[in-house]
Order: sequence, then structure tokens, then C-alpha cells
Amino acid sequence: MNKKKKILEVKNLKMHFPITGGLTNGVVGHVKAVDGLNFDIYEGEALGMVGESGCGKSTTGRCLIKLYEPTEGELIFHSKRGKVDLMQLDRDSMRPYRSEIQMIFQDPYSSLNPRMTIRSIIEEPLLIHEPNMTAQERNDKILFLMEKVGLRKDQADRYPHEFSGGQRQRIGIARALTTNPSLIIADEPVSALDVSVQAQVINLMMDLQEEFNLTYLFIAHDLSVVEHISTRIAVMYLGNIAELGESDQIYNQPTHPYTKALLSATPVADPRADKKERIILEGDVPSPTDKPSGCGFRTRCPIAQASCADEIPEFRTLESGREIACPHVSD
Ligand SMILES: Nc1ncnc2c1ncn2[C@@H]1O[C@H](COP(=O)(O)OP(=O)(O)O)[C@@H](O)[C@H]1O
Ligand code: SF4
Ligand SMILES: [Mg+2]
Repeated sequence: MNKKKKILEVKNLKMHFPITGGLTNGVVGHVKAVDGLNFDIYEGEALGMVGESGCGKSTTGRCLIKLYEPTEGELIFHSKRGKVDLMQLDRDSMRPYRSEIQMIFQDPYSSLNPRMTIRSIIEEPLLIHEPNMTAQERNDKILFLMEKVGLRKDQADRYPHEFSGGQRQRIGIARALTTNPSLIIADEPVSALDVSVQAQVINLMMDLQEEFNLTYLFIAHDLSVVEHISTRIAVMYLGNIAELGESDQIYNQPTHPYTKALLSATPVADPRADKKERIILEGDVPSPTDKPSGCGFRTRCPIAQASCADEIPEFRTLESGREIACPHVSD
């Protein structure tokens, strides 16, 4: 893997959803779903993004392809067409880049139109992004992709309800591949699937990554899901990244107090891991509408100090290369 070349640089990304209410129905507050993310995605890697439900993972994914219009930030995309800040593009000028970044959604049951055949579902992005393709070329591509994701050609004229969850996710993956994307945002692609099927879909995604030179942002709520596929992992908490590092750094030497707690609650295959001390975090995750001052994790952090209330921790790079949002720990 070439780790040197960046494909996407995310700088100070914020998504604050306005809350309206009161007598005048004006803006009375904000849901700070994503609150200043800084990270890069490198060509050919699978960057895992994990964190509890509500920490801002899906919002991040949607911001990266501008399904949401972020409140603030830069999204420097190293496209096949050159370098561009996606934040500066409107809907129309975004379209050519949209074919290079595709998304795979969590729920294979609701993300496929029940009235469309598999053929038309996979064909749709081709009609939008490849208007010069002939019907024959489209047909060849559809059948080629169906085969690549492990579906049979004779299933092309069936409807989504005739398929299992795992097969539907394969259809979603084939659809995402139609435009030859370089970057795929996969938002919990296996969370809705039976555990027995999860590994099959992850293995398929790894095979496709190699064959088609794909880069993944792979979102999951659980560290155990991304263990197999991720080269690096970003751990999110309350709209920020707590820690980002190589997978083995995160699993074997977690540094941020939140990563340590999350990992201690994760079942892992290693039998020695059972002896690991279980860290139980006190209290609930605060609301993104009313975040604590300073470090967002301070209300639950076992090593919080008085100063943690005063300043938002800088996201800094340690000697080992990992990045961390806490001034009170080191390698
Ligand atoms: N469209 C929206 N409008 C207002 N709040 C939203 C919207 N989408 C998500 N949120 C809120 O933003 C926070 C992060 O949500 P989300 O990104 O879906 O988290 P995750 O995917 O990590 O579970 C949650 O508090 C959620 O309620
Ligand atoms: S900055 Fe303070 S509260 Fe936040 S993780 Fe570090 S020690 Fe804990
Ligand atoms: Mg989500």
C-alpha cells in the first residue's frame, strides 16, 4: 500500500444542525454532530471509523460527499481530474466528482428501490454519469459487476425483496462500483446483517479493494467489525476524533482514555484479552446540543483534570505517528 499519497484531506470539518423552535420558530441552538474533524485518507487504505451511536459517524460520511452541506471546513479531494476543495463546489460542479466517491449505506433493506430490478438499480448511476455508453456496454458492465460481487447473471431481472440482506448489500456494492470510484464511504455496511454473513461481505469488500484499487472509509460502531479490514482506525467521541492510528497501535496500545475504555468493552478473539481490565465509563454521553466546555470527554474521563474544562484539546501527532486529542497522555 502506498501510504504517502493522500486522496482526501479533511480540515476542521463541522456540521452543526440548527434547532428551530420558540414562538418565532427561530434558531434556538445547534446539534454539533461533527465539531472540527482533521484527518487524511490515504490512497489504497481502509480507514476504519468507530464510535458509539450518535457520535457523528454517518454525518461525517454524508458531509464528505456533500449529501449534507457542512457548516465549515475544507475537503481537499485529490481527484483523477486534479486537486479540488469539494466545499467550494455547488451541486452541478460537484457531479463529476460524485462519480469518484461513492457511498454504501447501512440498511440494504431500505436503500434499494423495491420497484426496480437489480439490473435497473445498478444501471441508474451509469445513465447519470456515463451518458455516452451504449445499452450493450451498460448491460456488459452490469453483468460484469454482478459477477464480481458474487451474484448470478440470471438474477438481474429480479427485485430486491427476492434477495437476502447479504445479497442486497452485494447489490449496493455493485451499484457503488459502476462509476469506477476511487473512494468508497461505507457507512456500517454490515451492521444490519447476520453475524455469519458479516465476514463474507467484509471479505468481498477486501477482495474488491485489491482488484479495483479502492480506498475505503469504513464506518462501524464496534471495533471488532473493523479489525480485519482497517489499516488505520479513527476513534470518534461526541463529534470529534479522540485518537487515530495504525490498527495495531489502536488495538494493542490504545492511548486515549476513551479508546482504552472502548477497547476494554470489545470482545476480541485473543483469549488472553479476557484478563484485560474492563473499564466501565460512568454516566452517559453528553448531548451534542449541549457539549461540555473544553474536552468533550471530560465528564466521563477517568483521568480528567481541572484544566480539561478550559481548553479544547489540540489534535496532535505523537512520536509513534498516532494522532490524539488529549494533552495528558503520550506514547
Ligand atoms: N439531519 C439531522 N438533523 C439534526 N440532527 C441530526 C441530523 N442527523 C444527525 N443528527 C444528530 O447528530 C448526531 C450524530 O448523528 P450521526 O452522525 O447519525 O451519528 P452516528 O452515525 O455516529 O450514530 C446525533 O445526535 C443525531 O441525532
Ligand atoms: S483532555 Fe482531559 S478529559 Fe480529555 S481525554 Fe485528556 S485527560 Fe481526559
Ligand atoms: Mg450512523
